[in-house]
Amino acid sequence: MTNNASSSTSAITPAHDVSKLPAWTELKEHHARLTNSGEQLKDWFASDPNRTNAFTREAGNLYVDLSKNFVTSETLDLLIKLARECGLEQRRDAMLSGEHINTTEDRAVLHTALRLPASEAGSLVVDGQDVVADVHEVLSRMYAFAERVRSGAWTGVSGKSIERVVSIGIGGSDLGPVMIYEALKPYRTGPECRYVSNIDPNDLAEKLSGADPETTLFVVVSKTFTTLETMVNARSARAWLLDQLQDKGIIDGSDANIAEAIKRHFVAVSTNLDLVSEFGINPENAFGFWSWVGGRYSTDSAVGLSLIISLGPDVFTQLLDGFHAMDKHFASAPLNQNIPILMGLINVWYNNFCGYATHAVLPYNQYMHRFPAYLQQLTMESNGKGVRWDGTAVSCNTGEIFWGEPGTNGQHAFYQLIHQGTRVVPCDFIAFVNTAHPTQDGEQDIHELFLSNFLAQTKALAFGKTADEVRAEGTAESIVPARVFEGNRPTTSIFAPQLDAHTLGELIALYEHITFVEGAVWGIDSYDQWGVELGKQLAQQIAPAFHDDTALAEQDSSTQALIAYYRKHRR
Ligand code: F6P
Repeated sequence: MTNNASSSTSAITPAHDVSKLPAWTELKEHHARLTNSGEQLKDWFASDPNRTNAFTREAGNLYVDLSKNFVTSETLDLLIKLARECGLEQRRDAMLSGEHINTTEDRAVLHTALRLPASEAGSLVVDGQDVVADVHEVLSRMYAFAERVRSGAWTGVSGKSIERVVSIGIGGSDLGPVMIYEALKPYRTGPECRYVSNIDPNDLAEKLSGADPETTLFVVVSKTFTTLETMVNARSARAWLLDQLQDKGIIDGSDANIAEAIKRHFVAVSTNLDLVSEFGINPENAFGFWSWVGGRYSTDSAVGLSLIISLGPDVFTQLLDGFHAMDKHFASAPLNQNIPILMGLINVWYNNFCGYATHAVLPYNQYMHRFPAYLQQLTMESNGKGVRWDGTAVSCNTGEIFWGEPGTNGQHAFYQLIHQGTRVVPCDFIAFVNTAHPTQDGEQDIHELFLSNFLAQTKALAFGKTADEVRAEGTAESIVPARVFEGNRPTTSIFAPQLDAHTLGELIALYEHITFVEGAVWGIDSYDQWGVELGKQLAQQIAPAFHDDTALAEQDSSTQALIAYYRKHRR
């Protein structure tokens, strides 16, 4: 079936007030009943031997155990009822078919089209464009370019092949690629990548440390090609390259030499190809994407070019296949079997009914150390909103606060609070059966020891340790209270055979769709990000005040005092 979404500015449909829906009231009453009953996770496990089975779902490579969440089957039924009352399925289908659900920017939201197979060309026409054909045209160009770099056919200006890719971007143009690069490092078969994002010059300096200008390729990634940090870093990188090549006597200062050096060492990823040319990058070496790809949903578009160069087209294709597998599950699985829908709804339950404001994501795999940072942009830039998609104010909390660190490092840092603190922090644990580096410590398989920690943590959080159990260990009575674990702390366990490209694609798409579900329930536009604009504008206004007294006088007293401090201490 061909979906042919209209390009006209659609009238904004009124958003629902979720807190006025019947299921919301029922969920509040249900929560009160559960709380008053004093029932705990351990009681539910004791009374229902089938609980694990009943609350476990599988999709693609992911085994997802929801049983240690503070939910009963009635909770899930009510949450699903709420989803239906919110029109969740209709909104999902509207997104997937290219309707302009990003109302404040009047845009389609079609990151799922980035991973549709080429065989589906013609099946999704949005704003008059065959988006699948467009996606695969760019993908083919990227694969061909990456192969040239990887094979050494593409060389720097002195004829040497590329050994280091320095990708310059920020936010969605950085966090996804760097997270995936780190996660899939064992699969790297091409040049190493370094990622520069911060406007702090220390970032670029560190990423260029030891770089040979003759063998370095810069990929400037910016959807708009106007982002301050990225453009400043790109200009600094260009100046570094030209200086270094001139110092080495490889180019002289002639315009032709400079243009050739930029052509051989700079490529771009952007939706703004005019500004790419203005920068001096040959449009032939620019890879586009589309306004219907949000920055934080763009890692599987041309934004992933550095990954294709470093990991190779095959690995990138497996990543896309993984995304697509989760998309299909999200689009078609019944609500009570649909993992992103259930996880999103459980998050709503914690956020809005249980009062748990934050959510930890704890990957038990060192290669996933940037996953929590990536998720922070995905979830918090998407759902940190105070008005609904029609501009009316929300009447409940939105936007969970996501955070985390890889296990077991977190265990020796903040898990104390998760186990015994006064705030409850729902956690997602993510672990893998196989490791890239199987290792023994004598008779002990170290990965099994690592996985024991993953299992032990979720067990301790769910079931705790009673005062009697503590006493039975011979603990002095005065210390017993400090050693009691209440338990009843909710976790989801996500287990997969291994961290490979396909599984990572599934995981990323899972969290993209969880984010969608939460936003759809709250009635917000999860695809704009106006909240980052004011700070950007003010930074431009404040910059002159460091040296200009008239500009300084226009600032508030606190800013004036901080700049006075700067002026006093600047060396
Ligand atoms: O921080 C706001 C933001 O617009 C993000 O949404 C985006 O990912 C990032 O800036 C980078 O934008 P661009 O890709 O246009 O440089």
